Amino acid sequence: MAEEMRIVLRNYGKIDPLNIDEYINAGGYKSLEKARAMSQPELIEEVKNSGLRGRGGAGFNCGQKWSFSYGIDSEQKFVVCNADEGEPGTYKDRIIMENDPQSLLEGMAICGYAIGSDKGYIYCRGEYPYVVEILNKAISQAKEKGVLKDFDIEVRMGAGAYVCGEESALIESIEGKRGEPRYKPPFPPVSGLWGKPTIVNNVETFANLPVILEKGAEWYAGIGAPAYPGTKVMTLTGDINNRIFIEVPTDTTIRQVIYGFGGGIAGGKKFKAVQIGGTSGGFIPEALLDTQIDFNSMAAIGATLGSGAVFVMDETRDIVDVIEKVTKFFEHESCGKCTPCREGTKRMHEMLKHFKAGQGNAKEMGRLKKLGAVMSVACLCGLGQAAPAPVLTTLEHFQADYFNKFC
Ligand SMILES: Cc1cc2nc3c(=O)[nH]c(=O)nc-3n(C[C@H](O)[C@H](O)[C@H](O)COP(=O)(O)O)c2cc1C
Repeated sequence: MAEEMRIVLRNYGKIDPLNIDEYINAGGYKSLEKARAMSQPELIEEVKNSGLRGRGGAGFNCGQKWSFSYGIDSEQKFVVCNADEGEPGTYKDRIIMENDPQSLLEGMAICGYAIGSDKGYIYCRGEYPYVVEILNKAISQAKEKGVLKDFDIEVRMGAGAYVCGEESALIESIEGKRGEPRYKPPFPPVSGLWGKPTIVNNVETFANLPVILEKGAEWYAGIGAPAYPGTKVMTLTGDINNRIFIEVPTDTTIRQVIYGFGGGIAGGKKFKAVQIGGTSGGFIPEALLDTQIDFNSMAAIGATLGSGAVFVMDETRDIVDVIEKVTKFFEHESCGKCTPCREGTKRMHEMLKHFKAGQGNAKEMGRLKKLGAVMSVACLCGLGQAAPAPVLTTLEHFQADYFNKFC
């Protein structure tokens, strides 16, 4: 059986998350000191060389993103932690924040030094009020100890909109506006919060940084899949024996995740499909289970790693029924700013309701495919662009479930 490797969860269960001394005794804040002893370009190069890519879904090279903000001369820059965690089935950021909040704060302060920012915000989803309390306590302890030096961090709470996890909608929301995505470019590293250079990174991305600084870029780059090195925290849900969270190297296969860590399908039933990366993830059939979970391998099979949520479905699941619910979610969560998403998510849901009632046919399935293809290129943000992925992958791999409805 493949083994777990705990980098971001290294302190899980070992320290009291609300006692900063325990974090410091475990080596905490040494990496920030090490980072501050380096020049900013040296530090950015080190993060770039580690190969660390964003753990929030888009998989962008972290050090490269930082270099865009560093290169801009501005009297104010911001560091924003995306803790919106709105993907259904995902709770990895909560686990990190609940159990090791200082690790996140240290990662943010490292980023602050690298780009020349003295102000950070953590945007935490509104459904996690107890996590907000933990974060605020952790921040006040860090301020009292003076470990963050001149870097200040504040927490902002979301109000339950999925689209506010999209970085530019998140920025609008922090600014006190309605959470809707912005037109891009300019991208946030150039013009973000209040028009200033802003780095938005995910909780898990930040929590990797203290370890990368401690052990070195080369060490990190050697773990897991070379194109997406390191580990990934995954949350296992659905028809699986072990509904747990794990942290595994990125060259672990989907089969190892489901049958090794997950203990296989619950109730001795057969596997039917797995959706990885949250609601917008593609549906993966049995034949592709030996794919590695890293970002590039998943993209190559038309799926995503996304947030790392793993939703397993057994043989009794009706794929059309599941997809109808998925499309309902997107219709509800579309912010309505752009026409392809506002209208497209509505039409997709309408068609799936129609199919579920046994009223579709092959021609309509073709129209649904066409609609999905248009949305994935025409929508303004990742919400509408990714919404067709589950639909299109089921039309490709689970056609029989659709036809069974119509007969
Ligand atoms: C609809 C939508 C929801 C998103 N939700 C989240 C989220 O909850 N957390 C997150 O870190 N990124 C989320 N993202 C991705 C962010 O836009 C952004 O890519 C990410 O925060 C960048 O951080 P990273 O480079 O560390 O991954 C979402 C994107 C979209 C389009």
